[in-house]
Amino acid sequence: MSETVLVTGGAGYIGSHTAMALITAGHKVVVVDNFVNAKPDALSVVAELTGVEIPIIDGDARDVELLTSVIEDHGVTAVIHMAALKAVGESVEMPLEYYGNNLETAIATLQAMRDAGIYKFVFSSSATVYGDPESCPIPEDASIGATNPYGMTKEMIEVIIRDLAASDDRWKVTALRYFNPVGAHESGKISEAPLGKPNNLMPMIMEVATGKREKVMVFGDDWPTADGTGVRDYIHIMDLVEGHVAALEHLDVQEGYEVYNLGQGEGVSVLELIRGVEEATGMQIPYEVTGRRAGDIAECVADPSKANSVLGWKTTRDIAQACRDAWNSQ
Ligand code: NAD
Ligand code: UD1
Repeated sequence: MSETVLVTGGAGYIGSHTAMALITAGHKVVVVDNFVNAKPDALSVVAELTGVEIPIIDGDARDVELLTSVIEDHGVTAVIHMAALKAVGESVEMPLEYYGNNLETAIATLQAMRDAGIYKFVFSSSATVYGDPESCPIPEDASIGATNPYGMTKEMIEVIIRDLAASDDRWKVTALRYFNPVGAHESGKISEAPLGKPNNLMPMIMEVATGKREKVMVFGDDWPTADGTGVRDYIHIMDLVEGHVAALEHLDVQEGYEVYNLGQGEGVSVLELIRGVEEATGMQIPYEVTGRRAGDIAECVADPSKANSVLGWKTTRDIAQACRDAWNSQ
């Protein structure tokens, strides 16, 4: 069934790529974003690539009335909720802003949906809810315990939507726990362009590759991993957003609340990712090993088998392609 999907926070990195994937799969997209961490041009590129205009409402996803009218005016049938603040370090310094923005946008969006009588909801959660995992790969039923306010907002919203689904069986809600999205759409025209200093590894490597920064600071080489640097599950952004299309379409046959890992299922170290970008660019990426970053963990790798079997979704792009596409988008 073709859906009209409201993507809150849809002008951001993952949202703009999600809009691309939804339109490509035959769905319609409406975006509400207040542009605290995005520029509107990402979506004009999506419109250019798909030939489909995307209604973009410059507004706050904490505004129930605004959201209700957007849902009604555009005939929205499902929501993918991405609007959030997402910098872990900042969340430790400004917990009220993080709990305020992230919880209020989620609750307001759910209230607007209930007021408008629509019940299909997909939520951008994060592997950060697993905290420091006991072992990898991590299945969805592993114990959770976020270690910072940002992660706690994801954990709390998962609880809210689980309870909501239990309260009324019209709700069909899915939390997608993202591992580490990297790369860009193969056109190279939609990119990850964080405002300010990047926190995440791939955008940092890109700034070094483009000469904006001298070197990558590698946060520790004394972790209990094969080369001593941190290991993560980097997933190509297009694979990740195709996971959203699969999760959305699966809501037709889903009952209640479900949670899925969206990851590649393979660990890649910091040094391996740097080498991947060196191969993709033919350039040398200077780096320096420095101390561990506060709150970091050694390893975080998904067991994506539930999404593979239930959603019929699998990643099809490898890390080399993610490095090429990240570079191409620069
Ligand atoms: P992003 O910052 O690029 O996108 C988030 C968007 O939400 C931005 O465009 C921002 O302007 C908007 N926004 C924030 N608060 C808002 C509000 N009150 N009203 C309206 N819009 C608001 O981040 P992203 O990487 O695209 O992440 C999208 C979602 O995925 C977020 O919920 C994030 O927490 C989650 N997530 C991201 C990652 C990652 O590595 N990028 C990993 C796990 C989960
Ligand atoms: C971060 C977030 C996490 C979020 C995830 C995906 C933190 C503490 N956690 O995790 O909540 O779910 O992104 O968005 O920010 N690294 C360097 N140098 C850098 C940057 C990173 O060596 O300049 C290393 C890190 O130590 C880590 C790896 O690269 O080993 C990946 O880091 P990053 O991209 O920040 O992602 P996560 O730590 O997985």
